[in-house]
Amino acid sequence: SLFAGQTLAGDDQWLSPVYKEIFQNELPTPPTKDKKYSYYNSTTNRYIDYYEVEIKPFEQQVYKGLKPAQLVGYDGISPGPTFRMEKGREAIVRFVNHGEKDISVHLHGSYSRAPFDGWAEDVTKKNQYKDYYYPNRQAARTLWYHDHAIHHTAENAYFGMAGFYILHDPEEDKLNLPAGDYDLPLALAAKQYNSDGTLFSPADETVSLYGDVIHVNGQPWPYKKVEPRKYRLRFLDTSISRAFKLTFEDSKAKKVPFNVIASDAGLLTKPVPSDNLEISMAERWEVIIDFSQYKGQNVTLKNARDVQADEDYNSTDKVMQFVVGDTVTSDQGNGNLPGSLRNVPFPPSKSGVDRKFKFERQGGEWKVNGVTFADVNNRILAKPPRGAIEIWELENGGGGWSHPVHIHLIDFQIISRVGGRPVLNYEKEALKDVVLLGTSETVQVIARYAPWDGVYMFHCHNLIHEDHDMMAAFNVSSLADFGYPETTKFIDP
Ligand code: C2O
Ligand code: CU
Repeated sequence: SLFAGQTLAGDDQWLSPVYKEIFQNELPTPPTKDKKYSYYNSTTNRYIDYYEVEIKPFEQQVYKGLKPAQLVGYDGISPGPTFRMEKGREAIVRFVNHGEKDISVHLHGSYSRAPFDGWAEDVTKKNQYKDYYYPNRQAARTLWYHDHAIHHTAENAYFGMAGFYILHDPEEDKLNLPAGDYDLPLALAAKQYNSDGTLFSPADETVSLYGDVIHVNGQPWPYKKVEPRKYRLRFLDTSISRAFKLTFEDSKAKKVPFNVIASDAGLLTKPVPSDNLEISMAERWEVIIDFSQYKGQNVTLKNARDVQADEDYNSTDKVMQFVVGDTVTSDQGNGNLPGSLRNVPFPPSKSGVDRKFKFERQGGEWKVNGVTFADVNNRILAKPPRGAIEIWELENGGGGWSHPVHIHLIDFQIISRVGGRPVLNYEKEALKDVVLLGTSETVQVIARYAPWDGVYMFHCHNLIHEDHDMMAAFNVSSLADFGYPETTKFIDP
């Protein structure tokens, strides 16, 4: 297997200096974000929590003896601080831009109504701020906030602008899953460094940047001391272009089984046993793993991705290590997993495909149905009536690239995948907001469009493709278009 510093002949993406401290630095845990204050909203008769985040430059010494990497992050750290929110408690977050580049903030996984959804052209310039309103009315789920600025999303997210935003609710709390120190958010990121230790920029990339140095929560190849008991691991892939197929291996290279319990949109219907987890860019998958059989051993998280030709490029097989201790200090959440987790609100079934979208490279550009986001007069590719249930067919037009497709505002159910992998067992029990189209795959998804009216984006989450301009929009038509009086009534999916 290949590792950082090894050279693939003729391969200019394999450049990072050799990283010598594999599994020697501890996994960082981003701090929890505190609100500044709360105020009473007499219109809604609820309290709103107010937060402030400052986007600012910082340095990270990745390689000993080389230059530090120059980064820009939320509150000057990366990943940014973790928001821990309660369902039903609205929030306003002020993002103050003290970086150099234009920014836009997208809370990925939230049905934030326009103009709070991080529309790519709705940029906040240097020394400006924007207040974003987040309804927090969805069921418990792992969201993430990241940059979405037009043509600079790859640079901004990769240089640090990404963080967790975790929504809790009483239904999930009742399940008594591992919490507190036993609930670990794990943000994966694959990056590439210059020979002087600074971070290689994706600014001039037009195809992909896979990255040969694997970070978890900002630290290359970390370790984490754990107790011999159950943990909840919240995986998020923040990479620009790298998807993973994760496995856990014990010291005898035997695979450690686990249960997948949640996806982009929160809990699955039930725990799904597996010994591997496919996760592509922007996806969230959560697992419960039991380290109780591995006292005094190391369990290594590995990447065995070999399915999609493009992501196998520069394959690197180690991710992080869990160092399992001898003592359990708390039995919180350490009991048997419940047989069922929740009644997932799948959309009612229907037949027929409502719309088809082809994601492909044409004439050196990344397009959706032949259109780029730069084509402002043609980029609205769908006008679903508000409240409609629609099936969208997402086709990979070929060429050897895979495309993780993200649709803003809605949660969808994957109803079929042809031309490659089947629908995965854990995908069958999930609602999602990103789905990977493998190199020759076509996927059908069903969803209700949507809680709000307005114009929202859908795009490839390979951020190089997104920036160049594999992104389009859909306009959730207001009822006025159908002869009804205009209303802002919210349709809860
Ligand atoms: Cu995570 Cu439109 O993005
Ligand atoms: Cu793509």
